[in-house]
Amino acid sequence: MTAQQSSPAAPPASPPAVAAVVVLAAGQGTRMRSATPKVLHSLGGRSLLGHVLAAAEPLNAGATVVVVGAGREYVEEHLAQVAPGAVSVVQEEQRGSGHAAAVALDAVPGLEGPVLLVNGDAPLLRASTVAALVEAHRSTGSVVTVLTAEVDDPTGLGRIVRDGDGGVRAIVEERDATPAQRAIREINAGVYVGDAAALRRTLARIGADNDQGEQYVTDVVGLLVAEGAAVGGHVAEDPDDVLGCNDRRELAARRRTLNDRVLDELMRSGVTVVDPQTTWVDVTCSVGADAVLEPGTQLRGTTSVAAGALVGPDSTLIDTEVGEGASVVRAHCLQAVIGPKVSVGPFAYLRPGTRLRAGAKVGTFVETKNAEIGEGSKVPHLSYVGDATIGEGTNIGAATVFVNYDGVAKHHTTIGAHARTGADNMFVAPVTVGDGAYTAAGSVITTDVPPGAMAVARAPQRNVGGWVSRRRPGTPAAQAAEAAESRAVAPDGDRSDVSRADTDQ
Ligand code: UD1
Ligand code: CA
Repeated sequence: MTAQQSSPAAPPASPPAVAAVVVLAAGQGTRMRSATPKVLHSLGGRSLLGHVLAAAEPLNAGATVVVVGAGREYVEEHLAQVAPGAVSVVQEEQRGSGHAAAVALDAVPGLEGPVLLVNGDAPLLRASTVAALVEAHRSTGSVVTVLTAEVDDPTGLGRIVRDGDGGVRAIVEERDATPAQRAIREINAGVYVGDAAALRRTLARIGADNDQGEQYVTDVVGLLVAEGAAVGGHVAEDPDDVLGCNDRRELAARRRTLNDRVLDELMRSGVTVVDPQTTWVDVTCSVGADAVLEPGTQLRGTTSVAAGALVGPDSTLIDTEVGEGASVVRAHCLQAVIGPKVSVGPFAYLRPGTRLRAGAKVGTFVETKNAEIGEGSKVPHLSYVGDATIGEGTNIGAATVFVNYDGVAKHHTTIGAHARTGADNMFVAPVTVGDGAYTAAGSVITTDVPPGAMAVARAPQRNVGGWVSRRRPGTPAAQAAEAAESRAVAPDGDRSDVSRADTDQ
């Protein structure tokens, strides 16, 4: 199953349920105290803005307009990546959310029918909640419908003022509220559906006569009520959905809530999450049934973990694919493809372009990059495998380095199938080792090895007998050597000549 949060409640009717989606994303986000515009801060694999766009996407709106201002070049660049179909409209001066909405509607003059207006900082908003709001708006025939929620702590939020019949009369910001209004626990989510013409007309009339001297989008409610128009309030099923994100503490809290949702969904679908407190999964990831996520696991981006795989403890997988029944223990993996029943780690670093075929093993303190490792092949210990192709059934000795870089360019090494390479080898690329070949331990392989050959590329050994006693007399090493020699003297007085085969030169 997928951890995706955007499951639309009802498929949008044709024509689209709303004519346009307008996202208000021009605010400074001062309380973030950040060089990054607020709506670009990320949680759970998407920016704040990205979550809002994902929640609105199933509406299939004719147009998506994003009001940008603070840090707009960054916001526009981000939009081009995540929502290339969206139109950005610049609000030159941040004169308030109402002014932002007016600027957006001015940019689409021909627009008619219902418009979804949404704050850009509502990352927990779900597609199902948006769909329910749009449906409530349609079925009640209201001119504007406000998404609301009953919350325990309404501090800082706009309060929903209802009349005796339950009709919405106004939205009052906390700083402008009377003590009685402050006691109201129904708050404005900052998500509205309204008729384009009515919004246009009332937005043109809103003032800035409030504590902040800003034009509040929320004032359209009072103006419409005064006109005698029907204004609805739709209470969100889950109050978490409406939570905004204004500072870093709220960002951390929203991230936690989002993660809890993702993990709940995974656990319901049959994934074991050993420690939900230390396991983080982006909404864009997927995990199969009977997979186990050990403590300290982070799955990010497009990562997918197939059924029955084990990930963790303490592993970070970014844009990585894990096959069925594989195990990835204490590893950091980036854009890697890990086949079924592969074993990775403990302590492995898989870099982009790593492809591990079924049953392969990348063991302890091994780094790979742009490396294909064949079915059942093993790189068990202390090695770097860069720019390489390794066939099936091959074993790479401990402490092997694929020497891929000559200081200017990268070169490729090919090792065939069922090869056995010795410990502490260097493969100086470009070089090829044939199928079924062996290489001796300690070899520096600089020329191709034919299939079935044994390559030995190291200096022959020479023992200089008695060197320690002569050159390091009296040291513990010399004493130990002499004691060993005297033990080696046979009972009849003959000395073994085994250790004296060579002489000092
Ligand atoms: C807003 C609502 C409040 C609601 C809360 C929910 C208003 C006046 N108040 O308060 O009733 O309870 O959201 O989270 O709307 N923006 C612009 N241009 C501007 C100013 C703001 O585009 O000139 C955008 C911001 O980027 C943001 C949204 O409008 O996405 C809301 O602005 P923000 O300052 O976050 O309003 P809140 O005080 O949170
Ligand atoms: Ca806000």
